[in-house]
Amino acid sequence: MNADAPVLRGVGLGKTYGNLAALADADFTVRPGEVRALIGSNGAGKSTLIKILTGAVLPTRGTVEIEGQAAPLGDPLGMIRRGVACIYQHSNLAPAMSVLDNIYLGRQPTRALGIVDTGRQRREALDLLARHDIDIDLDRPVGSLPTVKQKEVEILKALALDARVILMDEPTGWLAAADVARLHATVRALKARGVGIVYISHVLDEIFAVCDTVTIMRDGRIVAESDVAAIDRPTVVRLMVGDKLAGEASGAALQQRHPRGTGVVRMSARDLGKRGVFGGVSFDLHAGEIFCLTGLIGSKRTELVRTLFGSDRFDTGTLEIDGRPADIRSPQSGMAHGIGFVPEDRHREGLMLDMNVTENLAMATLDRHRRGPLLSRGSMARAGRQAIDELSVRPPDGGKLVRLLSGGNQQKVLVGKWLGRNPRILILDEPTVGVDVGAKAEIYAILRRARGEGAAILVVSSDLEEVMTVADRIGVMVSGRLVATHDAGAVTQEQIVREIGGGTA
Ligand SMILES: Nc1ncnc2c1ncn2[C@@H]1O[C@H](COP(=O)(O)OP(=O)(O)OP(=O)(O)O)[C@@H](O)[C@H]1O
Ligand SMILES: [Mg+2]
Repeated sequence: MNADAPVLRGVGLGKTYGNLAALADADFTVRPGEVRALIGSNGAGKSTLIKILTGAVLPTRGTVEIEGQAAPLGDPLGMIRRGVACIYQHSNLAPAMSVLDNIYLGRQPTRALGIVDTGRQRREALDLLARHDIDIDLDRPVGSLPTVKQKEVEILKALALDARVILMDEPTGWLAAADVARLHATVRALKARGVGIVYISHVLDEIFAVCDTVTIMRDGRIVAESDVAAIDRPTVVRLMVGDKLAGEASGAALQQRHPRGTGVVRMSARDLGKRGVFGGVSFDLHAGEIFCLTGLIGSKRTELVRTLFGSDRFDTGTLEIDGRPADIRSPQSGMAHGIGFVPEDRHREGLMLDMNVTENLAMATLDRHRRGPLLSRGSMARAGRQAIDELSVRPPDGGKLVRLLSGGNQQKVLVGKWLGRNPRILILDEPTVGVDVGAKAEIYAILRRARGEGAAILVVSSDLEEVMTVADRIGVMVSGRLVATHDAGAVTQEQIVREIGGGTA
């Protein structure tokens, strides 16, 4: 085969949903050993394009070729058989099944008579783990693994397939810096073996770190293509969001810091611990400040903040709210104490996917929309329109089912749901994963506005650029301990990186 011939090619691809053109006129190629970035704002059509290429979505028009051969459309198994693998934005693993079974789901190596050869599967899987230096228990049910490990299972699945093309839809969404670096190493190794890769990410650093070429989408269309070496960041941002927003997005870093906010302590934790998970955690969270907790994935930040809201229980230490001991036993009592909580896993805990945007936005504030025994649709719709507007949810349609929104727009709805409640204490766990640069700036502006109104805000974030941008104070967690806290203006990113890595070998 001619080395330059595309391994995967889409011609004139289009997809419409009702009167929405999610994708129009897309011509797209990937060559062997090419890493092609696919970028664009939330709702630009990236996932739609990927899903057409994997067979998950039937295009309204256009064709797909693999190594010059017409490929079947809307046929996921046919695409897998032709060597197209995908790591989806939202995991499509079977949570109740083991890691091993997930890796081979749908294409078990069989012995005679169709009996699954589990011995061979296990040997092959162990070999893959060793070659890619991945540490995972093959017998654990996937649903019991943390998000980062679930991503690894998806990568293993693609590796086991020996795919010729791997489509990665925001593969590093929830990964910590060290894991991102490892994934990048995997991408480079696959590239060296001639695998073609499509890489979707909202983190431009990643594009410049691992991609050779870039395709930029806006409003369902491909608006530019370039070699990565021939394009710079400001140009990329402008092509993604248009001229108008580019200035706003880059201006987000300019801000005043308010360490300890108004000085009033809203939440005070002393020696909080949960056996085998975290321990000795003490901090004060003040009204009018943004306190960011950073650290590696697995440093137990999520576990800690879940106990502050009542989704989980701590077993030692004390928690006070407004100077009084707070006995928070459930999310309901967390809410009764004025806490709002944006969880990390929007699909399992945060959103009702089969309800519409307005209903999801109203979920945390139902009490406000009650008129006697009834809910006022009008009042919900008004509040919904305001939130949709403030957060630029696209499309701006409160009647749309949340399941049908793009990933980043789902995240905006989740943030908006809690902001609408004007909580006195707002805890957000990785609030901007999957959110594009423009919308990130909008979320930061909203957090600052809430801070200005006196909210005490605790943000868990692995994204150091985000931490350095929004934090008034920064806490670093390592292996379940809060090892340091800093005024954000008095510490460098390098120092934080050192502390994050400090306690782990
Ligand atoms: N099944 C569906 N029914 C109706 N509309 C849909 C459906 N799937 C996607 N859309 C719409 O198509 C558009 C493109 O969505 P897509 O998921 O491709 O965006 P994206 O570029 O991947 O965005 P993000 O960065 O937020 O993940 C969005 O407006 C989305 O709401
Ligand atoms: Mg997407």
